[in-house]
Order: sequence, then C-alpha cells, then structure tokens
Amino acid sequence: MATILDGNKVSDLISKNIKKEVLTLPTKPKLAVIMAGDNPSSEIYVRLKQQKARELGFETEDYRFDETVTENELENLITKLNNDSTVNAILVQLPLPKNIDKDKIINLINPQKDVDGFHYENAGKLMLNQKPYAIACTARGIMELLKYYNIAVNGKSVTVIGRSSIVGTPVARLMQNNNATVTVCHSKTNDIKKHTKDADIIVCALGKPKFLKEDMVKQGVVIIDVGINRVGNAIIGDVDFEAVSQKASYISPVPKGVGPMTIAGLMQNTLDLYKLQNTL
Ligand code: GUN
Repeated sequence: MATILDGNKVSDLISKNIKKEVLTLPTKPKLAVIMAGDNPSSEIYVRLKQQKARELGFETEDYRFDETVTENELENLITKLNNDSTVNAILVQLPLPKNIDKDKIINLINPQKDVDGFHYENAGKLMLNQKPYAIACTARGIMELLKYYNIAVNGKSVTVIGRSSIVGTPVARLMQNNNATVTVCHSKTNDIKKHTKDADIIVCALGKPKFLKEDMVKQGVVIIDVGINRVGNAIIGDVDFEAVSQKASYISPVPKGVGPMTIAGLMQNTLDLYKLQNTL
C-alpha cells in the first residue's frame, strides 16, 4: 500500500511559515483576483484562494464581471492594477468567457505581478530555465509536495499526461529543469500505456475520471493526481486510486492532494512577488 502524499498537511505547513513571515513585513501583500462569467468550479476555486490569502494576512481585491464583459473592460482594469503600487499580484481566473481573447488579457499583466506565471515572459523563462518571477501554481505545488516527501526528480523518468498551459506544460518543464527525463502524453498520443508503464513518476492532468489504471503502471511508481472531476456529488481524480495505490510507492489523493498545494503555490507566489517589488 502506497504512502499518501498529504496535500493538506504540506500546504498547512507552508501556510504557517508564510503567515509568520507576513507578520514581519512593513505592509501587507495584496492579491487582486479577476473573474468573469459564472463557472461554478471557478467560483469555488476563487473563494478558496481568497479565503486562504486573508487567513495568511494578505489583502485581497475581488473583481467580478458577468459573461458579457468586453475585452476593453478587462484591459482597463488590468492597466489600472498594473499601475497601482499597492497591488502586488494579479490573478485572472480561467476560463474566461468565449468572446475574450485570454492570451491578450493574460499578456497585458505586468510579468512582475503575474501570480500564475502564465504571461509569455514567465512561461518563456520557465521554458529556458531562467528563473521566472512566478511559476504556475499547480506545478510549483507539485514540486513542493515531492520535496516534502524527499522524492527526488533528478535522473527520474517522468510521464506527464496532459499538455495544458495551466498544468501539463509547466509541470513538464519544471521537472525537466530539475533534471528529470520527461515524456508528455496528450489526447493524440497513440499508446499512452507505453509511456506510463516504465515511468518512475506519473503526473495525471488530463481531466478524465479514473483514467490511469493499475495495468498502466509499474510497481513502486510515484503518482501525482491533478484531476478534479465532478461525478454526481463526488470529486474523482484522474487515477483509479483503489487499484493503483496497491502498486504505487507514493500517491496523491483527490481531494486533499494537489488541490491544496495549488493554493499553497499561489500564496508562495504572492509573497515572492511582494518581495520582488519591495526588494526585500
Ligand atoms: N483555472 C484552473 N486552474 C487555474 C489556475 O491555476 N489559475 C487560474 N488563473 N485559473 C485557473
């Protein structure tokens, strides 16, 4: 039976340290959150992010728009927040409504306030291993979780399933920057099992409930499950936990695995950006 990678425990530890550090700062770090439309999952994520930020002593600002928001309105707000020296971190919750060019909006954020690390300057720096101002929160959270459990990435074979710009792509890059040999699978991969069955570490971020089965992994594998799939009233990961946990050495559960680590990553990024802007 695998050791459970306890995201709640590790995120609590990170939170405690941040909270202590915030008390020593001359002013409070401020996170501005922008959300448009009424995606129910986004509502929950944004509430949890703001709740945690306030708990740690950060200030938050909340900007809500409905589905009919224009690019112009979002651009004006981002320009205002970029120019507001009391705002340290700007988060645009995705997805945005269909009529909005999300890349245009994200790339308008000052890269030094881009708390998700989604701006092309930060994504490009991650790609080139050049120390971005912020790294995508889930990718950062996953690395923190592995670090806490002393799971080395150096020299390992890592298979990432999913190539989204929010999780799959940044986590694959971060793993490679930490000397892993990385394979990225996606919806057009012919034979995913071929790439998972010998992997030392598998990151599952494709959004299909119980996709990763026991026969797709080797004994002793480390499993990171990023999936948050709503099935009826339950939240189910991308991994068939019951069966795969019999073979794995470590496995992250859903919930209480990667979810809280994403929020911890966001809190670390917010504090880092504050320090960057205040040269602390
Ligand atoms: N939507 C789903 N995950 C994320 C995330 O980490 N950041 C933002 N901004 N939007 C998301």
